[in-house]
Amino acid sequence: MSRIMVKGKPFLSLGGQSHNSSSYVLDNMGPTWHSIKAIGGNTLATPVPWDAFEPEEGQFNRKFVTDLIDEARHQDLKLAFLWFATWKNGSSQYVPAWVKGNRERFQRCLLKDGTPIHQLSAHCPANMEADRKAYAELIRTIRDYDSEEQTVIAVQVENEAGIQGGTRRDFSPYGEAAYHAAVPAELIDYCKDNPNCILAGVWKKNGEREGADWAETFGYYGAEAVTAYAIARYIDDVCAAGKEIYPDLFMYLNVWLDGGSRGKGQNLAGIDWPSGCATSRNLDIYYATLKAIDTVAPDNYQTTHFRHKEVTDTYAHPEKGFPLYVPESAKFGINMGQMFYALAEKKAIGYHIFGSETALMPDLKTLNPMGIQTMHNFRMLRDAAPLIFEYQDRDRIWSAVQEEKEESVVVDGFDGDILMKVCFIGNDGDWTKTDYPHRNEEAVPPDPTLLPEPGRALIFQESEKVFYFVGHNATVTIEKRPPVDGSIPAVYADYTLLHVNMDSYSTTQGHFDEDGKFVVDIVRSGDESRHGVWLRYDTGVVRVKLV
Ligand code: DGJ
Repeated sequence: MSRIMVKGKPFLSLGGQSHNSSSYVLDNMGPTWHSIKAIGGNTLATPVPWDAFEPEEGQFNRKFVTDLIDEARHQDLKLAFLWFATWKNGSSQYVPAWVKGNRERFQRCLLKDGTPIHQLSAHCPANMEADRKAYAELIRTIRDYDSEEQTVIAVQVENEAGIQGGTRRDFSPYGEAAYHAAVPAELIDYCKDNPNCILAGVWKKNGEREGADWAETFGYYGAEAVTAYAIARYIDDVCAAGKEIYPDLFMYLNVWLDGGSRGKGQNLAGIDWPSGCATSRNLDIYYATLKAIDTVAPDNYQTTHFRHKEVTDTYAHPEKGFPLYVPESAKFGINMGQMFYALAEKKAIGYHIFGSETALMPDLKTLNPMGIQTMHNFRMLRDAAPLIFEYQDRDRIWSAVQEEKEESVVVDGFDGDILMKVCFIGNDGDWTKTDYPHRNEEAVPPDPTLLPEPGRALIFQESEKVFYFVGHNATVTIEKRPPVDGSIPAVYADYTLLHVNMDSYSTTQGHFDEDGKFVVDIVRSGDESRHGVWLRYDTGVVRVKLV
């Protein structure tokens, strides 16, 4: 599935993931539901832990699932379930006691010296069989209870799968056998079909071997490669059992990231990220192996624009059948700008923040400064939601994101002779150039505890003459590209003159009705329009018509 679907229509999931322990006791979830509503999300992502769902072998606690669905309906929210089973943060904490206690049947990963670690072995068939049975039961429960209403929109299969245990591979007899077996042909075929991919690079460097074992084929990387392959197969087999039951439900896996082009720590799998997780280096193995999973989704908490964007770019591959979905991210700061980049430039299909409850003040009612920033984004995105997928498909959506202390950026590529300069307030923007409700608000000095929030905007082009905007702390000036003959008209000496000198235009604020028709709520004129298209999170969608 290239998008999350609800009743046959693509659904833009904007939401929050609860903290890990929240869903065990439904009665304690008041602040959890409230936090999603307060940030303006439409989806709560919350765990269904294997140990809660199948406390005894073959005895399934379906009520755990159906109670959550009932409450979500009552709250008018959608749900994404997180299947915490064989893997959670590269460990096996959430497997039931009847699995943990039976080490003979459910084998653990072994270190080289034979010491067992907490993690179940991905190479042991009994582990996968038990997980798969439980997962199938979970999906059957969801289908039987919810396929009509479709409150549950997605399921995350496992969590940050990999070995976070101080080893790059499993030295158990099963693990040893896998490591010394020939690398499956599907990986070699993938290297041949994708000669420029990372995996193909390692394969070529090691002599383009076929039918050889993992060390011979991939050298040093072979130890992590065999782990990645086993985990990808395992998760995909678990997922396939669910897809057979409820094919229309979106299923994805999430990723504990490596350091990408910057590296991280000692750059050691098993220490700096769970070995075998679908990191940038292992992604080719996952893409070559996964058949049932809908996408591989990064937990993007990166703190620099460069890395944030690099992660977005790495995991956005709709052309290979793996669209960008961000299941976890920070509630504030650069993520607020980069979320716009992901939606506009990389066609993200959904975006969630992590730890929704900690968007609230200690009173568990009002939003704290982080939550306020998330709320700003979700308000804009929900206002623009009727446009987002259509304009992604038409390639007529752009983002302008303030990185570091940038004063402005130029957006190019529109149909017609148009360029746009997007200024970010606080730099060369001016607080007086909005309307009086915003001027009154902005005349109050900002709360010093507020974390820096980047200026950002989304721009949609309907036609050569009609544009829609949402944004915050940004002002757009629409300009005509200067003449081809090399002359520069005098108005270009001052960019503020450009906007007023555009062919006449109308600027309005509004919303989309149920039929997708733009309804004008406020007309901007004179002072409110002549200084450019100023954007704040609470103005709804701004439409500009050039005449
Ligand atoms: C990533 C995991 O997927 C989440 O469950 C949670 O543990 C967060 N990290 C934050 O700790």
